[in-house]
Amino acid sequence: MEIKEELKKYQDIINTELKNNLPKENCMEKELHKAMEYSLLAGGKRIRPILVLATYKLFYDDYKICIPYAVAIEMIHNFILIHDDLPGIDNDDFRHGKPTNHKQFNEATAILAGDALFNLGYKIISEDIKNTKNQEELRNKISIFQEFTTSVGKMIAGEYVDTEFEGKKINNEELKYIHTHKTGELIKLPVRMGAILANATKKELNAVTNYAEKIGLAFQIKDDILSEEGDEKILGKPVGNDKEMEKCTYVSQYGLEGAKKELDKITKEAKEELELFGEKANFLKKLAEYIANRNK
Ligand code: IPE
Ligand code: IPE
Ligand code: MG
Ligand code: MG
Repeated sequence: MEIKEELKKYQDIINTELKNNLPKENCMEKELHKAMEYSLLAGGKRIRPILVLATYKLFYDDYKICIPYAVAIEMIHNFILIHDDLPGIDNDDFRHGKPTNHKQFNEATAILAGDALFNLGYKIISEDIKNTKNQEELRNKISIFQEFTTSVGKMIAGEYVDTEFEGKKINNEELKYIHTHKTGELIKLPVRMGAILANATKKELNAVTNYAEKIGLAFQIKDDILSEEGDEKILGKPVGNDKEMEKCTYVSQYGLEGAKKELDKITKEAKEELELFGEKANFLKKLAEYIANRNK
Protein backbone atom coordinates (compact mmCIF):
# COMPACT_ATOMS: atom_id res chain seq x y z
CA MET A 1 0.00 0.00 0.00
CA GLU A 2 1.19 3.55 -0.76
CA ILE A 3 2.13 5.61 2.30
CA LYS A 4 -0.54 8.22 1.41
CA GLU A 5 -3.27 5.55 1.49
CA GLU A 6 -1.97 4.12 4.76
CA LEU A 7 -1.83 7.58 6.32
CA LYS A 8 -5.38 8.29 5.15
CA LYS A 9 -6.63 5.11 6.83
CA TYR A 10 -5.07 6.13 10.12
CA GLN A 11 -6.24 9.73 9.75
CA ASP A 12 -9.85 8.59 9.24
CA ILE A 13 -9.75 6.51 12.42
CA ILE A 14 -8.23 9.36 14.41
CA ASN A 15 -10.59 12.01 13.07
CA THR A 16 -13.60 9.92 14.08
CA GLU A 17 -12.21 9.45 17.59
CA LEU A 18 -11.41 13.16 17.94
CA LYS A 19 -14.95 14.09 16.91
CA ASN A 20 -16.41 11.60 19.40
CA ASN A 21 -14.37 13.09 22.23
CA LEU A 22 -15.26 16.75 21.69
CA PRO A 23 -17.84 18.36 24.01
CA LYS A 24 -21.28 18.62 22.42
CA GLU A 25 -23.58 20.00 25.12
CA ASN A 26 -25.84 22.89 24.36
CA CYS A 27 -24.57 25.24 27.04
CA MET A 28 -23.49 28.81 27.70
CA GLU A 29 -19.93 28.09 26.49
CA LYS A 30 -21.12 26.66 23.17
CA GLU A 31 -18.93 29.12 21.24
CA LEU A 32 -15.86 27.89 23.14
CA HIS A 33 -16.66 24.34 22.04
CA LYS A 34 -16.96 25.58 18.47
CA ALA A 35 -13.50 27.14 18.73
CA MET A 36 -12.04 23.88 20.05
CA GLU A 37 -13.61 21.93 17.21
CA TYR A 38 -12.57 24.55 14.65
CA SER A 39 -8.86 24.00 15.27
CA LEU A 40 -8.92 20.33 16.18
CA LEU A 41 -10.74 19.32 13.00
CA ALA A 42 -9.05 21.80 10.67
CA GLY A 43 -6.96 19.21 8.84
CA GLY A 44 -3.72 18.48 10.70
CA LYS A 45 -1.60 15.57 9.48
CA ARG A 46 -2.15 13.60 12.72
CA ILE A 47 1.49 12.51 12.81
CA ARG A 48 1.56 12.15 16.61
CA PRO A 49 -1.51 9.92 17.07
CA ILE A 50 -0.43 7.91 14.02
CA LEU A 51 2.90 7.31 15.75
CA VAL A 52 1.12 5.90 18.82
CA LEU A 53 -0.92 3.43 16.76
CA ALA A 54 1.83 2.50 14.30
CA THR A 55 4.39 1.85 17.04
CA TYR A 56 1.92 -0.33 18.93
CA LYS A 57 1.37 -2.23 15.67
CA LEU A 58 5.02 -3.29 15.68
CA PHE A 59 3.84 -5.64 18.43
CA TYR A 60 0.06 -6.22 18.13
CA ASP A 61 -2.64 -5.51 15.57
CA ASP A 62 -5.58 -4.46 17.72
CA TYR A 63 -4.62 -0.95 18.83
CA LYS A 64 -7.85 -0.13 20.71
CA ILE A 65 -5.93 0.32 23.96
CA CYS A 66 -4.00 3.23 22.37
CA ILE A 67 -6.99 5.38 21.36
CA PRO A 68 -7.27 7.60 24.52
CA TYR A 69 -3.53 8.33 24.32
CA ALA A 70 -3.65 9.04 20.58
CA VAL A 71 -6.61 11.41 21.06
CA ALA A 72 -4.99 13.16 24.04
CA ILE A 73 -1.71 13.89 22.30
CA GLU A 74 -3.45 15.38 19.26
CA MET A 75 -5.58 17.60 21.52
CA ILE A 76 -2.52 18.83 23.39
CA HIS A 77 -0.65 19.39 20.12
CA ASN A 78 -3.55 21.57 18.94
CA PHE A 79 -3.56 23.49 22.20
CA ILE A 80 0.05 24.52 21.59
CA LEU A 81 -0.63 25.40 17.94
CA ILE A 82 -3.52 27.71 18.89
CA HIS A 83 -1.36 29.45 21.48
CA ASP A 84 1.70 29.49 19.19
CA ASP A 85 -0.25 31.52 16.62
CA LEU A 86 -1.39 34.16 19.13
CA PRO A 87 -0.13 37.75 18.78
CA GLY A 88 2.01 37.32 21.91
CA ILE A 89 3.90 34.40 20.39
CA ASP A 90 4.17 34.03 16.58
CA ASN A 91 1.34 36.35 15.61
CA ASP A 92 0.22 34.25 12.63
CA ASP A 93 -3.04 34.72 10.75
CA PHE A 94 -3.28 31.41 8.90
CA ARG A 95 -3.04 27.73 9.75
CA HIS A 96 -4.34 24.74 7.81
CA GLY A 97 -5.37 27.18 5.08
CA LYS A 98 -7.84 28.92 7.39
CA PRO A 99 -7.75 31.93 9.71
CA THR A 100 -6.03 31.08 12.98
CA ASN A 101 -8.24 30.55 16.01
CA HIS A 102 -7.87 34.09 17.39
CA LYS A 103 -8.62 35.54 13.95
CA GLN A 104 -11.72 33.40 13.47
CA PHE A 105 -12.99 33.94 17.02
CA ASN A 106 -11.09 36.35 19.29
CA GLU A 107 -8.00 36.25 21.49
CA ALA A 108 -9.79 35.40 24.72
CA THR A 109 -11.66 32.55 23.05
CA ALA A 110 -8.46 31.24 21.43
CA ILE A 111 -6.58 31.24 24.74
CA LEU A 112 -9.41 29.40 26.46
CA ALA A 113 -10.01 26.96 23.58
CA GLY A 114 -6.32 26.03 23.88
CA ASP A 115 -6.61 25.64 27.64
CA ALA A 116 -9.74 23.53 27.26
CA LEU A 117 -8.09 21.17 24.73
CA PHE A 118 -5.10 20.85 27.04
CA ASN A 119 -7.30 19.88 29.96
CA LEU A 120 -9.52 17.58 27.90
CA GLY A 121 -6.47 15.60 26.77
CA TYR A 122 -5.45 14.88 30.34
CA LYS A 123 -9.04 14.18 31.38
CA ILE A 124 -9.36 11.48 28.71
CA ILE A 125 -6.19 9.78 29.93
CA SER A 126 -7.14 9.98 33.59
CA GLU A 127 -10.55 8.45 32.85
CA ASP A 128 -8.92 5.60 30.96
CA ILE A 129 -6.55 4.97 33.87
CA LYS A 130 -9.43 4.98 36.32
CA ASN A 131 -11.21 2.31 34.25
CA THR A 132 -8.20 0.00 33.96
CA LYS A 133 -8.47 -3.17 36.06
CA ASN A 134 -5.46 -5.20 34.89
CA GLN A 135 -2.57 -4.39 37.23
CA GLU A 136 0.25 -4.62 34.69
CA GLU A 137 -1.66 -2.43 32.25
CA LEU A 138 -2.40 0.02 35.05
CA ARG A 139 1.30 0.30 35.95
CA ASN A 140 2.21 0.98 32.30
CA LYS A 141 -0.49 3.62 31.96
CA ILE A 142 0.50 5.45 35.15
CA SER A 143 4.11 5.54 33.98
CA ILE A 144 2.92 6.86 30.58
CA PHE A 145 0.90 9.60 32.27
CA GLN A 146 3.94 10.71 34.23
CA GLU A 147 6.05 10.70 31.05
CA PHE A 148 3.30 12.59 29.23
CA THR A 149 3.25 15.49 31.70
CA THR A 150 7.07 15.64 31.71
CA SER A 151 7.22 15.77 27.90
CA VAL A 152 4.53 18.43 27.65
CA GLY A 153 6.44 20.47 30.23
CA LYS A 154 9.58 20.22 28.10
CA MET A 155 7.64 21.18 24.99
CA ILE A 156 6.35 24.32 26.74
CA ALA A 157 9.90 25.10 27.92
CA GLY A 158 11.17 24.77 24.33
CA GLU A 159 8.41 27.06 23.08
CA TYR A 160 9.42 29.62 25.72
CA VAL A 161 13.12 29.51 24.80
CA ASP A 162 12.21 29.76 21.09
CA THR A 163 10.20 32.90 21.80
CA GLU A 164 12.85 34.42 24.09
CA PHE A 165 15.66 33.91 21.56
CA GLU A 166 13.87 35.68 18.71
CA GLY A 167 16.23 38.14 17.10
CA LYS A 168 19.21 36.97 19.14
CA LYS A 169 22.28 35.08 18.00
CA ILE A 170 22.39 31.57 19.43
CA ASN A 171 24.87 28.72 19.28
CA ASN A 172 24.27 25.21 17.92
CA GLU A 173 23.72 23.76 21.36
CA GLU A 174 20.96 26.28 22.12
CA LEU A 175 19.33 25.55 18.77
CA LYS A 176 19.38 21.84 19.54
CA TYR A 177 17.79 22.54 22.92
CA ILE A 178 14.93 24.42 21.26
CA HIS A 179 14.35 21.69 18.67
CA THR A 180 14.49 18.70 20.96
CA HIS A 181 12.19 20.37 23.48
CA LYS A 182 9.74 22.29 21.31
CA THR A 183 9.17 19.56 18.72
CA GLY A 184 11.18 16.46 19.60
CA GLU A 185 9.41 15.73 22.88
CA LEU A 186 5.95 15.41 21.34
CA ILE A 187 7.30 13.11 18.61
CA LYS A 188 9.20 10.89 21.04
CA LEU A 189 6.30 10.65 23.48
CA PRO A 190 3.76 8.99 21.12
CA VAL A 191 6.31 6.43 19.95
CA ARG A 192 7.22 5.54 23.52
CA MET A 193 3.55 5.41 24.54
CA GLY A 194 2.77 2.91 21.77
CA ALA A 195 5.72 0.74 22.80
CA ILE A 196 5.02 0.90 26.55
CA LEU A 197 1.34 0.05 25.99
CA ALA A 198 2.55 -3.00 24.05
CA ASN A 199 4.85 -4.04 26.90
CA ALA A 200 8.01 -3.65 24.82
CA THR A 201 11.30 -4.95 26.22
CA LYS A 202 14.01 -2.49 27.24
CA LYS A 203 15.91 -3.19 24.02
CA GLU A 204 12.81 -2.62 21.87
CA LEU A 205 11.91 0.56 23.76
CA ASN A 206 15.45 1.86 23.28
CA ALA A 207 15.34 1.18 19.56
CA VAL A 208 12.02 2.98 19.00
CA THR A 209 13.16 5.86 21.23
CA ASN A 210 16.29 6.33 19.10
CA TYR A 211 14.13 6.23 15.97
CA ALA A 212 11.76 8.81 17.48
CA GLU A 213 14.52 11.20 18.50
CA LYS A 214 15.85 11.13 14.96
CA ILE A 215 12.52 11.65 13.20
CA GLY A 216 11.72 14.39 15.74
CA LEU A 217 14.80 16.32 14.72
CA ALA A 218 14.10 15.57 11.04
CA PHE A 219 10.57 16.86 11.49
CA GLN A 220 11.70 20.24 12.78
CA ILE A 221 14.50 20.59 10.20
CA LYS A 222 11.89 19.99 7.51
CA ASP A 223 9.54 22.49 9.17
CA ASP A 224 12.33 25.08 9.03
CA ILE A 225 13.04 24.26 5.35
CA LEU A 226 9.34 24.55 4.48
CA SER A 227 9.16 27.87 6.28
CA GLU A 228 11.88 29.02 3.89
CA GLU A 229 10.88 27.49 0.57
CA GLY A 230 7.49 25.80 1.00
CA ASP A 231 4.38 26.59 -1.04
CA GLU A 232 2.07 28.67 1.16
CA LYS A 233 -1.04 27.30 -0.59
CA ILE A 234 -0.12 23.67 0.08
CA LEU A 235 1.36 24.36 3.49
CA GLY A 236 -1.71 26.27 4.67
CA LYS A 237 0.43 28.51 6.90
CA PRO A 238 2.72 31.46 6.15
CA VAL A 239 6.10 30.99 4.48
CA GLY A 240 9.00 33.31 5.30
CA ASN A 241 7.71 34.17 8.76
CA ASP A 242 10.67 32.59 10.59
CA LYS A 243 13.01 34.96 8.75
CA GLU A 244 10.69 37.89 9.36
CA MET A 245 10.61 37.23 13.10
CA GLU A 246 14.38 36.58 13.09
CA LYS A 247 13.80 33.09 14.42
CA CYS A 248 16.75 30.85 15.11
CA THR A 249 16.18 27.83 12.90
CA TYR A 250 18.17 25.02 11.35
CA VAL A 251 18.19 27.01 8.11
CA SER A 252 19.36 30.27 9.71
CA GLN A 253 22.11 28.34 11.49
CA TYR A 254 23.34 25.90 8.81
CA GLY A 255 21.95 27.34 5.57
CA LEU A 256 19.38 25.66 3.31
CA GLU A 257 21.83 23.14 1.83
CA GLY A 258 23.29 22.29 5.23
CA ALA A 259 19.81 21.68 6.61
CA LYS A 260 18.88 19.41 3.68
CA LYS A 261 22.04 17.37 4.05
CA GLU A 262 21.41 16.85 7.76
CA LEU A 263 17.80 15.91 7.04
CA ASP A 264 18.87 13.11 4.63
CA LYS A 265 21.46 11.80 7.04
CA ILE A 266 19.20 11.71 10.06
CA THR A 267 16.33 10.11 8.13
CA LYS A 268 18.59 7.26 7.02
CA GLU A 269 19.81 6.77 10.58
CA ALA A 270 16.24 6.75 11.92
CA LYS A 271 15.30 3.86 9.63
CA GLU A 272 18.36 1.87 10.67
CA GLU A 273 17.27 2.04 14.30
CA LEU A 274 14.29 -0.20 13.45
CA GLU A 275 16.23 -3.12 11.93
CA LEU A 276 15.39 -5.46 14.81
CA PHE A 277 11.68 -5.33 13.93
CA GLY A 278 12.19 -6.65 10.37
CA GLU A 279 9.29 -6.17 7.95
CA LYS A 280 6.96 -5.09 10.72
CA ALA A 281 8.76 -1.74 10.72
CA ASN A 282 8.08 -0.99 7.04
CA PHE A 283 5.38 1.58 7.75
CA LEU A 284 7.45 3.46 10.36
CA LYS A 285 10.37 3.53 7.92
CA LYS A 286 8.14 4.93 5.19
CA LEU A 287 6.83 7.46 7.69
CA ALA A 288 10.39 8.69 8.31
CA GLU A 289 10.75 9.26 4.57
CA TYR A 290 7.37 10.97 4.41
CA ILE A 291 8.45 13.38 7.16
CA ALA A 292 11.58 14.29 5.21
CA ASN A 293 9.80 14.62 1.86
CA ARG A 294 6.49 16.19 2.91
CA ASN A 295 5.35 19.45 1.34
CA LYS A 296 2.97 20.38 4.17
C1 IPE B 1 3.57 21.83 13.42
O1 IPE B 1 3.35 20.47 13.59
C2 IPE B 1 4.32 22.38 14.57
C3 IPE B 1 5.66 21.82 14.76
C4 IPE B 1 5.92 21.00 15.72
C5 IPE B 1 6.74 22.25 13.91
P1 IPE B 1 2.59 19.61 12.48
O2 IPE B 1 3.15 19.94 11.14
O3 IPE B 1 2.61 18.18 12.89
O4 IPE B 1 1.12 20.16 12.56
P2 IPE B 1 -0.22 19.69 11.88
O5 IPE B 1 -1.11 19.32 13.01
O6 IPE B 1 0.03 18.55 10.96
O7 IPE B 1 -0.69 20.90 11.16
C1 IPE C 1 4.91 25.34 16.79
O1 IPE C 1 6.20 25.69 16.44
C2 IPE C 1 4.76 25.05 18.24
C3 IPE C 1 5.60 23.98 18.80
C4 IPE C 1 6.32 23.14 18.11
C5 IPE C 1 5.63 23.84 20.24
P1 IPE C 1 6.51 26.63 15.19
O2 IPE C 1 6.08 28.01 15.46
O3 IPE C 1 7.94 26.40 14.82
O4 IPE C 1 5.63 25.93 14.07
P2 IPE C 1 4.59 26.53 13.03
O5 IPE C 1 5.42 26.87 11.85
O6 IPE C 1 3.91 27.70 13.64
O7 IPE C 1 3.68 25.40 12.73
MG1 MG D 1 6.50 29.24 17.16
MG1 MG E 1 4.52 29.21 14.77
